[in-house]
Amino acid sequence: MSLLSVTGITKTFGGVMANREISFDVKPGELVGVIGPNGAGKSTLFDLITGFQRPDAGRVTFDGHDVTGWRPDRISHLGVGRTFQKLKPFAGMTALENVMVGAFQKTSDVAEARAAAMTALEQVGLGERAEAHARGLSTGQRKRLELARALATRPRLLLLDEVTGGVDQATVPGLIRLVRELHATGLALIVIEHNMRVIMEISERVVALQLGQVIADASPAEIVRDRRVIDAYLGETWRE
Ligand SMILES: Nc1ncnc2c1ncn2[C@@H]1O[C@H](COP(=O)(O)OP(=O)(O)O)[C@@H](O)[C@H]1O
Ligand SMILES: [Mg+2]
Repeated sequence: MSLLSVTGITKTFGGVMANREISFDVKPGELVGVIGPNGAGKSTLFDLITGFQRPDAGRVTFDGHDVTGWRPDRISHLGVGRTFQKLKPFAGMTALENVMVGAFQKTSDVAEARAAAMTALEQVGLGERAEAHARGLSTGQRKRLELARALATRPRLLLLDEVTGGVDQATVPGLIRLVRELHATGLALIVIEHNMRVIMEISERVVALQLGQVIADASPAEIVRDRRVIDAYLGETWRE
């Protein structure tokens, strides 16, 4: 049985069809990569799954619940976590306080939220920085903070929007290791990622988008040989 089913979701902004009849499934514990050029509709897809945008048509089902049109906090509470491509931590708040915002999705008890937030910070390797203000963290640390905030909601499915985007090359392997560790705990993940090496290394399946449409849904090995994916995104320079 699928954990997540996306069926025919469509979203138009003005004249732009950001998502066009997108359908795919994610099984419990699966790690699915999402690739595609800028503007292909990847972040919009996350917005539609997590309730930050409402689809014009189509359906999103999570764990047997039709969550289409639900508010973000309800979907989060049911077990879908996400990170945002554009980081927006509360700069004046500490790392711990930022992550507690996520933890309050699952509890209203302050001590419990604090403990859950601390666990999430330790999980991402930021335990030592719990009392640091978010504005004092490096870009890589802010990515980890965003991940901790999402983890503190205790998701069963976690959506990561370009978690390695904009961080220096030295920081990437640590973030990848972290994603693999999370996957090893049984968490299902959908990972938007531009780095094809990373996609090839971690994904069990890859969904490729172009102009809001799914152009391929296949194993990483098949994806890099797919003519449409090569033409739309990879170009001829990609070599395994
Ligand atoms: N809130 C919005 N309002 C208007 N247009 C949007 C909005 N969100 C996304 N778009 C447009 O939808 C298209 C897909 O964007 P996006 O989902 O961010 O793509 P990606 O994440 O693949 O780069 C783009 O043309 C973008 O400008
Ligand atoms: Mg995006």
